[in-house]
Amino acid sequence: MVEAKRATKADLKRVDSIIADYRGQRWGLVPLLHELQGALGYIPPEAIPRIARGLDLFPSQVQGVITFYTQFYTAPRGKNIVRVCRGTACHVRGGKTILKLVKQHLGIEEGENTPDLKYTLETVACIGVCALAPNIVINKDTHGHMNPKKVARLFSRKD
Ligand code: FES
Repeated sequence: MVEAKRATKADLKRVDSIIADYRGQRWGLVPLLHELQGALGYIPPEAIPRIARGLDLFPSQVQGVITFYTQFYTAPRGKNIVRVCRGTACHVRGGKTILKLVKQHLGIEEGENTPDLKYTLETVACIGVCALAPNIVINKDTHGHMNPKKVARLFSRKD
C-alpha cells in the first residue's frame, strides 16, 4: 500500500488558491484537478471537501471524477514510476524473477513508494512489446530483455 500522507498547511493554502481561480465554475473541475496534481504531485484527500465547496458540488461528485480518471492520484507517487510487466509472455520468460529483483533493489513492494519518493513500483498487464520479454517500463522508457544484471544496472544509478 502507498503510505498515507497528510496535506501540510502550505499544501492546503495552495489548494485554496487554485480553487479560488475556479470558484463556482463546475465545468472547471477536471482542469482544477490537473492543476492541483501538477502543483502537489497528487490530490490530497483533504482537498476534496474544499473543492466541492468551491465549485458548488457534492464531495462524492469530486471523488467520482477522481476515481473515474486513472491519471488522478490521491496519494503521493515517486519521481520515477517503475512498471514491471506481468503479461503472459513476460511471465514465461522470467518476469516473476525480474519483479522480485526490482522489489529487492528498491526495498519496496508493488504499489509502494521508496521513502525518498524516488520510485513507485507498479505492475502492468502486457505493454505490447512481448518480443522483448521480459520487460519493465521506467516512466516512458521501455527496457526489454531484462535479466538480473540489467536490473542491477538500472537501479544502482546515482541519479
Ligand atoms: S507480456 Fe509483457 S510485453 Fe507483452
